[in-house]
Amino acid sequence: MTVVQFDSHTRKGPEAWIAPHLAVIVPSFNERENVGLLYEKVATALGSIPFEFIVVDDNSPDGTSAVVREMAQLHPNVRGIRRIGRRGLSSAVIEGILASSAPYFAVIDADHQHDEGILPLMLEKAIAGDQIVVGTRYGGDGSVGEGLSKTREAGSRFATKLSNLITGETLSDPMSGFFLMRREVFDEVAPALSDDGFKILLDIIVSAGRFHALHGKELRIGEVPYTFRPRHAGESKMSPIIVVQFLGLIVSKLTRGLLPTSFLLFGLVGGFGVIVHMGTLWLTHERLGFNFVWAQTAATVVAMTFNFMLNNELTYASKKLRGWRYLTGMLSFYAVCSIGALANVSVASWIYAYDGQFYLAGLLGVLMSVVFNYSVTRVFTWR
Ligand code: GDD
Ligand code: MN
Repeated sequence: MTVVQFDSHTRKGPEAWIAPHLAVIVPSFNERENVGLLYEKVATALGSIPFEFIVVDDNSPDGTSAVVREMAQLHPNVRGIRRIGRRGLSSAVIEGILASSAPYFAVIDADHQHDEGILPLMLEKAIAGDQIVVGTRYGGDGSVGEGLSKTREAGSRFATKLSNLITGETLSDPMSGFFLMRREVFDEVAPALSDDGFKILLDIIVSAGRFHALHGKELRIGEVPYTFRPRHAGESKMSPIIVVQFLGLIVSKLTRGLLPTSFLLFGLVGGFGVIVHMGTLWLTHERLGFNFVWAQTAATVVAMTFNFMLNNELTYASKKLRGWRYLTGMLSFYAVCSIGALANVSVASWIYAYDGQFYLAGLLGVLMSVVFNYSVTRVFTWR
């Protein structure tokens, strides 16, 4: 029997281990060319501050996770979390933060767009008492430099205005993906955070602000300006889907979370479904000459399929069904929607009999089926 020997490592007692003071959380998707160099830059910037470097990778096809494991063989303060079957920047960040016990953590993009050079100053401000310190492109000497196209800069500035609507704060860059905070403040609000989309900071600020107000305390937010840099290697994952998810988050927060983002997106998809339904009906009945019953049946199936596909991309992007589960998911979606339609008709007829106003009855019937379909598909389709 051969015994593996680790001769090159002299075992050190636990006292030789320095607990990290700061956790640097790096969400990644297809960033294999970026993570190694980012670690070097962060290590240089932090100097003697003990830190850990946690990369949360959603099983990137380019093999980012394997690169991180190689890094961890060289640097004991590097860790990789490889998530399988899940996607999403916000949920990756949340998971990385929860995997660490360091008293402070920072979130930084893998693509070198954020200037790691300001991390020590951010940490200093947090130690001095700011609960959240945001790296800002729009305040003080900060700028978007060459980092954003003109269209994206305009979009980003508009999104900033929308966000200030719900934070009530005049933060210069609530859209930033670059921030540092104390972990207790995060731990308090973690269960309330939304998993979807890109806007984790905004979500934290709103939730923490509310939590603090509840306890009669003020939330202290600090800002450190920096210049946004162009992406180092690879491509951005920003997309129209992410923009719509962001708008959903804003509306959800305006209702103080009463209407969850996923419900709003589900309703939006339903609205598009009606248009698809009417379009198909018109095409099959008016243009192709199908009789009404067949045309209506075809339109229903097309609309349900469309709704399933769009919900899978938009509403449930973070738990997207694939392969075999895509098929069974679609069948369960059909089943639930059929029952939803029955519920719709019964509620509407009941109200109509009582009230006699068709639009009110029709509207409440639709509302009934949206609520029904949403709640039931959450249990059976997108678990
Ligand atoms: N784990 C994981 N899963 N990471 C992801 C995912 C995902 O689904 N999507 C993106 N990321 C990682 C990227 O690998 C990168 O490290 C970081 O999140 C930011 O993604 P980019 O694709 O580079 O986004 P961006 O540059 O368009 O947007 C950034 O800048 C915006 C400001 O203009 C982000 O920081 C946004 O939060 C920020 O608002
Ligand atoms: Mn980027």
